[in-house]
Amino acid sequence: MARHIHVIGIGAGDPDYVTVQAIEALNDTQVFFAMDKGEGKSDLVALRREICARFIREPGYRFVELPDPKRSTGADYREAVSDWHAARARVWAAAIAAELGPDGVGAFLAWGDPSLYDSTLRILDAITGEVEFSFDVIPGITAVQALTARHRIPLNEVGEPVLVTTGRRLREHGLAGSAVVMLDADCSFDVCPPGTRIWWGAYLGTADELLVAGSVGEVGPRIAALRAEARARHGWIMDTYLLRPAD
Ligand SMILES: C[S@@+](CC[C@H](N)C(=O)[O-])C[C@H]1O[C@@H](n2cnc3c(N)ncnc32)[C@H](O)[C@@H]1O
Repeated sequence: MARHIHVIGIGAGDPDYVTVQAIEALNDTQVFFAMDKGEGKSDLVALRREICARFIREPGYRFVELPDPKRSTGADYREAVSDWHAARARVWAAAIAAELGPDGVGAFLAWGDPSLYDSTLRILDAITGEVEFSFDVIPGITAVQALTARHRIPLNEVGEPVLVTTGRRLREHGLAGSAVVMLDADCSFDVCPPGTRIWWGAYLGTADELLVAGSVGEVGPRIAALRAEARARHGWIMDTYLLRPAD
């Protein structure tokens, strides 16, 4: 036997999104590694603990909080992210070696699904040379699925592609076809023509969920106002939206 790590997708907000496969992996885990994201996102850490308390049958597991190294705000975005991942990798390798015995089972809980805008798998890959362990991946319900389910819409139009992108890239490249936008700090849909259709969702799957749909021209200002107000109230916001060019 060797150390094993489950990378568990826990869904993007609603504890009911946790799958049966995830519950099995949660119950197989002795040590949960969690990033300390700082005060602002403590609601998210609390949700992870709530999921463990609700689904784990035998208490006996423990949490190990890993300090999240600071990301530099230098001009080169990719370089800053790559330095940050390297710093995280060092912290993770040391923690796995120190906290898991030779047959120990650990887990990282990934918000939504670990394959989508999440660095867990890249970091684990980077440390396979430094510390010995195997890992598996349990898929979860992403914010994209939560968004389309809550608006009761298909993701794609018949036979058409959908781009999954960031607010930054939408601003740089504009919209060509349907796109899901994530990680947008500043309502980047405002670069789109007013007839563009938008389905927006914030805090999806939680009691604070907000949903708005319409054209960017009609509902854009309302989304911007709702977003600013909710962000100020909670101290953080997570929102996702689907855009389609006007017919
Ligand atoms: C670092 S990415 C992680 C995505 C995640 N792995 C997933 O599968 O959804 C964080 C972004 O996901 C989106 N997101 C995650 N959870 C959300 C939620 N409950 N409501 C709205 N957007 C969410 C937001 O765009 C946020 O900026």
